[in-house]
Amino acid sequence: MIASRESRKRLGQVFTPEDVARTLVRWAVRRKTDHLLDPSCGDGRFLAHHAVSTGIELDRENARLAQERVPGATIHHTEFFTWASSTTCRFEAVAGNPPFIRYQHFAGRTRQLAIELAQRAGSTINGLASSWASFLVVTAGLLKPDGRMAFVVPAEIGHAPYASPVLSFLCSRFRQVRIVAIREKLFPDLSEDAWLLFADGFGGRTDVVELSLFDGFASFEWTGRPTRRVSLSSWRDAGCRLRKFLLSDSHLALYEASASRAGVSRLGEVANTGIGYVSGGNEFFHLRPSEAKRYGIPGRLLRIAIRRSRQLPADCVSRQTVEGWISQDEPVMLLDLRGAQKLPSTVMAYLNSERGREVRKGYKCRNRDPWYAIPDVRVPDAFLSYMSGRKPAFVRNDTECVCTNSVHAVSSKNGMSLRTIQQAWSHPLVDLSCELEGHPLGGGMLKMEPREASNVLVPIGNPHFTPSEIRILKEATAEMRGWRNYD
Ligand SMILES: C[S@@+](CC[C@H](N)C(=O)[O-])C[C@H]1O[C@@H](n2cnc3c(N)ncnc32)[C@H](O)[C@@H]1O
Repeated sequence: MIASRESRKRLGQVFTPEDVARTLVRWAVRRKTDHLLDPSCGDGRFLAHHAVSTGIELDRENARLAQERVPGATIHHTEFFTWASSTTCRFEAVAGNPPFIRYQHFAGRTRQLAIELAQRAGSTINGLASSWASFLVVTAGLLKPDGRMAFVVPAEIGHAPYASPVLSFLCSRFRQVRIVAIREKLFPDLSEDAWLLFADGFGGRTDVVELSLFDGFASFEWTGRPTRRVSLSSWRDAGCRLRKFLLSDSHLALYEASASRAGVSRLGEVANTGIGYVSGGNEFFHLRPSEAKRYGIPGRLLRIAIRRSRQLPADCVSRQTVEGWISQDEPVMLLDLRGAQKLPSTVMAYLNSERGREVRKGYKCRNRDPWYAIPDVRVPDAFLSYMSGRKPAFVRNDTECVCTNSVHAVSSKNGMSLRTIQQAWSHPLVDLSCELEGHPLGGGMLKMEPREASNVLVPIGNPHFTPSEIRILKEATAEMRGWRNYD
């Protein structure tokens, strides 16, 4: 079944491969009489594997397809949370693939109700959570004692801050919680990676998340023994990041021990990392040198800006780098009018040009006063790329350049030398730490939020690592890059 791009985004319509659906149902259903629920059943491909089943589906056409495919099933064409708030049905088994709708699109009454029901079920779902989080929690509340549920879940259950209350909730309500991480993509057309969740024994509790690792779904089979047993306390010590436990015990142990080794700091202890400014109209606020000249904009109102990470050289932004951009007439001159008392007539003419009249209608400009004064324009000591292939670039700022939010702005603190941090950045410990503290974005990319960058371990005090430890750090980095499908 092919969902349009628009309905994919709006309703999270991604359809599960048949063999995955069959496996999840076979695990969840134990007896012929078990009643199976799929809370977002799509075209009914989970329900098709068990005679006694109920499916909920918001999309009319999908609900029709599901009923056609599984005539014996009860299909409700309705919104799941609305249905869940009043149903008295309880189920022995649940299997499905909840919609993955990011919080920006998971809005309005449905989200409000989802958060309320999750709260009632015992889990506080944060406002930045994608829809799958409340689907899991609310669905669990519809199980009979000792019931079980099997779901396809986004791999971000292994790192997103909003996923940690969900995992805690599951452990407080089920006797066994197992996550199956699968390296190959379950959904080749999607950038997000997907894992599987098996939660058994509703009404029980556990202090352990069982984690099983597989290269591909073809090699997946349910075995009694998980690859790792992650205690909730070690998961909490690891910043509630299950992803770290993809590493073998010995590799993770070296990483964890490195954090307390003399000479190793977190980046956040020696530098502040934040986002650059948001102009609200990059094309308008950044001029080419030739345009600035044509409009007669005085040099004192212009700053040289890093607009994208591609612009960054390998080591440092120097005077020569900037001269190169200027001689090539690159659009890197930011019109910085904060605090300007009386604007020259040339600038007024630029602001009142057709482009200027258009840009001021945008959200950012409308919500600041005056509309053309961009806040948070600062000169950082270094720039950090936040979306990278191999590794985030750490580039010194030897000039007065500023940066947009397409790169992070880093400023050293406590008198720490920026060069020292930069030198440490090339250490294999940093490579591994970026993999473990950042997160995969799909398509092989690694993303690093400012708070994640602050957690990166940097060996600034020349700590000693033996050759075999260095080898382990490198192996572990390669292993983690494999998990984000970086070639
Ligand atoms: C990820 S798809 C999964 C469909 C099917 N279970 C499968 O795996 O092939 C999620 C489904 O949830 C439906 N959906 C989205 N929001 C919903 C809601 N609030 N209530 C019920 N269904 C919803 C979508 O229309 C879509 O068919």
